[in-house]
Amino acid sequence: MLSRLVKAVAIGALLPLGAVDAAKTKKLIIDTDIYSGVDDTTALLLAATLPHAEILAVNVNTASSYSALAVSAIIGHYGYTEVPIGLTRPFTDEAFFDNFGFIRGEYCSKVGYHYSNGSLPWGTAEDAWDPVALYRKTLAEQADHSVTVVSLGFFQNLAGLLNSTGDKYSPLSGPDLVKAKVLELVVMGGQYPSGAEFNFFGGTPLNTALVINTWPTAITFSGDNVNVLAGARLTREAPSTDPVAASYKWQIGYNVDWQTWDPFAVLYAINGLDKLFVAQGQGGHNYVFPNGSNTWVYDNTKNNQQWLKLKISNVTAANKLESLFLKGVRKWA
Ligand SMILES: *[C@@H]1O[C@H](CO)[C@@H](O)[C@H](O)[C@H]1NC(C)=O
Ligand SMILES: *[C@@H]1O[C@H](CO)[C@@H](O)[C@H](O)[C@H]1NC(C)=O
Ligand SMILES: *[C@@H]1O[C@H](CO)[C@@H](O)[C@H](O)[C@H]1NC(C)=O
Ligand SMILES: *[C@@H]1O[C@H](CO)[C@@H](O)[C@H](O)[C@H]1NC(C)=O
Repeated sequence: MLSRLVKAVAIGALLPLGAVDAAKTKKLIIDTDIYSGVDDTTALLLAATLPHAEILAVNVNTASSYSALAVSAIIGHYGYTEVPIGLTRPFTDEAFFDNFGFIRGEYCSKVGYHYSNGSLPWGTAEDAWDPVALYRKTLAEQADHSVTVVSLGFFQNLAGLLNSTGDKYSPLSGPDLVKAKVLELVVMGGQYPSGAEFNFFGGTPLNTALVINTWPTAITFSGDNVNVLAGARLTREAPSTDPVAASYKWQIGYNVDWQTWDPFAVLYAINGLDKLFVAQGQGGHNYVFPNGSNTWVYDNTKNNQQWLKLKISNVTAANKLESLFLKGVRKWA
C-alpha cells in the first residue's frame, strides 16, 4: 500500500501544474465521541479520503481506551499513520454495551485490535495526548485562520482549550489562540431553531454552554435533522479488508443502514454548502442553556453563525454519501 506522501506525489504528477490548490485544502482537527454510534467511523473515513482535506489531529471525547485505539486503526488504514491522537482523561477500558435497544454490538475494541495501526497501536492508549495540549500544539503550528475544528460529540476537550493559558506551545490564552488560528468551528449538535439534542445535554452541558456561548470564531451547526439513513451499501460493496465497513458490520450488521449525523458535519467542513446544504439563521446565533438545551437568538451582536439544512431529498443525500464512502474505501483496498 502506498503511503499518503507517495500517493499525493503520484496524484500531483498526473495533474497540470497549478491544479493542486493548497489554499483549497481544509486542515482539520476532529473531536469525536466514537464509542456508541458508528457514524463517527464514516466521518473519519470521509475526512481521511476526500480530496481537499488534511487531518492534523484527532481528539477523542469519550473516556474509553478503545475509542482512541479505534481512531488510530481507522485513520491509519487510510494512510494517516503519524497523526497525533488525544484522549480525554481519566479514561477506562470500558467497552460499549447497548443498554438502549439491546441490538447493537461493540466495535471500537474490535477495530482497534484487528486493524492495529497508526500512531496509537493496540496496547498504547496511555500514550495518547492530553487533548488540550494537542489542541494547543497543533493550532500553534498552523498559519493564522487556517484550521477547521470539527466537533462530533461532547465538549470537555474544547472547553479545556478555551480555559487554557499560555504554555510551551504558545503564549496565547485559549480564546486568543483559537481566534488567531481557527477558520471555523463546525459542530454536530443541537436542534434548530431550538430544542434539546444529546451531544449538547448528554455529556457535561456546562461545557457545551461555555464552548457555544463564548467561542470566538465563526460557527456552523449541523443539527439533529441533518441526518439520513445510509451505510448498508458500504457493507455490501466495500473491499473485505476495510475497517469502517467492518465496524458497521460489527455494530449494526450486514446490509443495515444507520444515522449519518457525523459524516454530514465532516462533508460540510471540507466542501462547504456545495449542492447539499442550505444555510439558515444568518444574523443570529446559537445560545445554550445550562441544561444543554439550545435556542437561536436574533440580536445581531454575533452574526457569524449559521445552521445547516439538507436541500436535497434524504434518498439523494444517502446515495451521495454511499458513493463518497465507497470511493474512499476503494482507494485504500
Ligand atoms: C498500516 O497502514 C498503512 C497505510 O495504509 C499500510 O501501509 C500498512 O500496511 C498498515 N499496517 C498494518 C499492520 O495494517
Ligand atoms: C478551567 O480551569 C480551572 C482552573 O485551572 C479548572 O479548575 C477547571 O476544571 C477548568 N475547566 C475546564 C472545563 O477545563
Ligand atoms: C427518508 O425519509 C422517509 C420519511 O421519513 C423515511 O421513511 C426513509 O427511511 C428515509 N430514507 C433515507 C435514506 O433516509
Ligand atoms: C432547559 O432550560 C431552559 C431555560 O431555562 C428551559 O426553557 C428548558 O425547558 C429546559 N429544558 C429541559 C429539557 O429541561
